[in-house]
Amino acid sequence: MKDHVRSNWHNAVLVCRKCSKKLDGGFGKDGEERLAKALRRHLSLKKGRKAAAGIIEANCLGVCPRGAVTVVNGAASRDWLLVRPGADLDALAAALDLPAQAEAQNPGWLTQNA
Ligand code: FES
Repeated sequence: MKDHVRSNWHNAVLVCRKCSKKLDGGFGKDGEERLAKALRRHLSLKKGRKAAAGIIEANCLGVCPRGAVTVVNGAASRDWLLVRPGADLDALAAALDLPAQAEAQNPGWLTQNA
């Protein structure tokens, strides 16, 4: 059995599942999607380890903001974000250092074309 596996993840982001459930949507085109799903769809990320970044729903992170979702950037875990419904997903992706859409669809695109 292997003792490690590779992934294409450039970064990992934790999104509080319980905050997302409390909001009952709030993100995406019609405002009906949960933040993690809306962000994955917005960036056209592939599934699982083949995605350019991991956006993972985690259990309660202990902040429990009203009317927002707690989000942790795995690469910059000292500052957590409280994301309100309807937030600009492009700005959020930039704040979380997530790859832009083109990079998310084709990992290595930026380095190949630089
Ligand atoms: S419910 Fe999200 S941080 Fe506690």
